[in-house]
Amino acid sequence: MEEREIFAKFPALKGKVPFIPLANLPTPLTPMEKLSSHIGAEIWVKRDGLSHPVYGGNKIRKFEFIFADILRRKARVVITGGGLGSHHTLATAVIARQFGLKAVCCYFCEPLGEEIRQNLLMTVPLGAEFHFCGDYPGLALSFLWQYLRHLLLSRRPPYFIYPGASSTLGILGYVNAALEIKAQLDSMGLPEPEAIFVAVGSCGTFAGLLLGAKLANLKSRIIGVQVTEESIANRRKVAGMVNKTARFLRTLAPEVPPVEMEAEEMELWGNYLGPGYAHPTPEALRALELAGELEGLPLETTYTGKAMAALLDYAKANPGKCLLFVDTFAEKPALEVGDYHRLPKQFWPVFDPSHKVPCWCLTGWLKPGYCWKKGAQL
Ligand SMILES: Cc1ncc(COP(=O)(O)O)c(C=O)c1O
Repeated sequence: MEEREIFAKFPALKGKVPFIPLANLPTPLTPMEKLSSHIGAEIWVKRDGLSHPVYGGNKIRKFEFIFADILRRKARVVITGGGLGSHHTLATAVIARQFGLKAVCCYFCEPLGEEIRQNLLMTVPLGAEFHFCGDYPGLALSFLWQYLRHLLLSRRPPYFIYPGASSTLGILGYVNAALEIKAQLDSMGLPEPEAIFVAVGSCGTFAGLLLGAKLANLKSRIIGVQVTEESIANRRKVAGMVNKTARFLRTLAPEVPPVEMEAEEMELWGNYLGPGYAHPTPEALRALELAGELEGLPLETTYTGKAMAALLDYAKANPGKCLLFVDTFAEKPALEVGDYHRLPKQFWPVFDPSHKVPCWCLTGWLKPGYCWKKGAQL
């Protein structure tokens, strides 16, 4: 197992930051030759989709720090949540099972699609607990209730992982990723890309890359492509995350240089979101097709398709530039698919709309056209 770049650069952090090796790092940094010649740019990909043999993607880097904290605190139950087809809850269930912990997953509704069904079905055999909670207010209430319930049941505080794992510890995973990119560029004798593109959901991946790039003295523009609503992904929030994580590192290791980021200096693009989180856009679908056909790189429409669409537009407008795409999506899940009947009944209409179950949420009530159980179509 290779030493993580964050510890190579700042050895004083060793033993002070919780860390457990989980990921196959460094992930490959490879050219996308066919896509490059098709578009007329030099496009590279950082294949974080290969970060884990069972289920890769961006969460695994975050979990190297978060699960170390969970183990240190001797929690037995991990509570988290996300949209119905959340990669984050699936990744949590995979790693929780690796350590014999119970994953309690709370889900809010989102537009239904095949990928959502697959992710839920892959979570079934992992022994997770499932709760359907409608919308964001339902999610918050569910977290509270599950926390109290499991506190009483196990007589030990459950560990709460923010949806998207974008806590200060989680962000360290992408501070390390930026340092890793810089080390790979140097060792391969490659110039720094003009811009690095990444999908921005709960913001931790982007915040980590921004901070890591500053610490690595990597000059590339880091362009975040917003895939969640403004209330979830915005410049002020990301700047706060960067600055808080920088302060955290400096309290542990004064050798870490001070970093203070202003919201205004950040490039967070909002024009690829489309109608909202998890709603596919025509641009994302085209980008997904192109990356699949030319490079065999699997993308999806919620995160990486939108980020790739932004990169391709930038490449067309700036011919010949060297660009890097951070692929945050698990490329080849090696997971069994379970039977949806093992999920609580509230999930069944996701797989067969003829199942009618009572369901209520504020969002569905205020915006009935958004409710997939009432037949809303993408
Ligand atoms: C495939 C994929 N890419 C990107 C992201 C965005 O990462 P973050 O939540 O750190 O902004 C997520 C978050 O769930 C994801 O699942």
